[in-house]
Amino acid sequence: MRLSGRVSIITGGGGGIGRATALRFSEEGASVVVADLDESSGEETVRLIKEKNGRALYVRTNVRESGSIQKLVHNTVEQFGSLDILVNNAGIGQSEVRGVDLEESEWDDVLDTNLKSIFLGMKYAVPELVKKGGVIVNVSSLLGLKGRKYVSAYNAAKGGVVLLTQNAALEYGKDRIRVNAVAPGVIDTNIIEGWKRDERKWSVISQSNALRRIGNPDEVASAILFLASDEASFITGATLSVDGGGLIY
Ligand SMILES: NC(=O)c1ccc[n+]([C@@H]2O[C@H](COP(=O)([O-])OP(=O)(O)OC[C@H]3O[C@@H](n4cnc5c(N)ncnc54)[C@H](O)[C@@H]3O)[C@@H](O)[C@H]2O)c1
Repeated sequence: MRLSGRVSIITGGGGGIGRATALRFSEEGASVVVADLDESSGEETVRLIKEKNGRALYVRTNVRESGSIQKLVHNTVEQFGSLDILVNNAGIGQSEVRGVDLEESEWDDVLDTNLKSIFLGMKYAVPELVKKGGVIVNVSSLLGLKGRKYVSAYNAAKGGVVLLTQNAALEYGKDRIRVNAVAPGVIDTNIIEGWKRDERKWSVISQSNALRRIGNPDEVASAILFLASDEASFITGATLSVDGGGLIY
């Protein structure tokens, strides 16, 4: 098993990519703390893990709030004794409007949930991770590597995640903490439901990559698992595209 004995936190672990990652981590021997704002989906992920005799704990978490993240790390160490892997995955989409038409409050929501959350996660997890070395995987996006119309806040936040990942890799490398990101393309989860409803737009978006299809959460979970495992022992500061060739398209 690739994560035998490791203790992990997965933010947004109640949702598509987060749940798939939580299940994969558990199959590979990790204890999993599912951190999500939504209690019923977070608890459901825990139930699915326990059903297969895995170890999991749900901690209601708002990744935008410092106190909530501190409690998350505290509860993890209290329950499982240490922390080895942090997956900063929780995130939200945005209304598709030009930047000039975006409400300031929505800008703040998207930046806080998708970027400040990563800063907070790392700020409070690193003091635990330094104790024996560890791994952080941040979930960026194809839209963190490539500009697109009508997603100004999302573009800015996810682009920020890529450079924050590089920054943290440099700052904590000497502490044996590896920090990487994944940049998913269009993946079949709740976050893209709005796009699916617009038939004309969806027919374009769903095929805008080399493989001409959307991805599924398991395909992103596989990349996160790889980066979190010892197989990626000399990889840090990287952003791995998981986009069916969306970036090069
Ligand atoms: N699905 C895609 O096409 C796609 C593409 C690129 C990047 N991503 C990124 O992948 C990550 C996971 O998204 P997903 O596609 O699985 O979507 P999702 O909506 O299925 O899951 C997101 C999860 O995050 C949780 N969450 C939202 N705000 C939170 C908060 N403040 N505190 C704690 N939890 C919170 C939600 O409750 C949900 O369970 C996000 O960062 C998203 O931006 C998704």
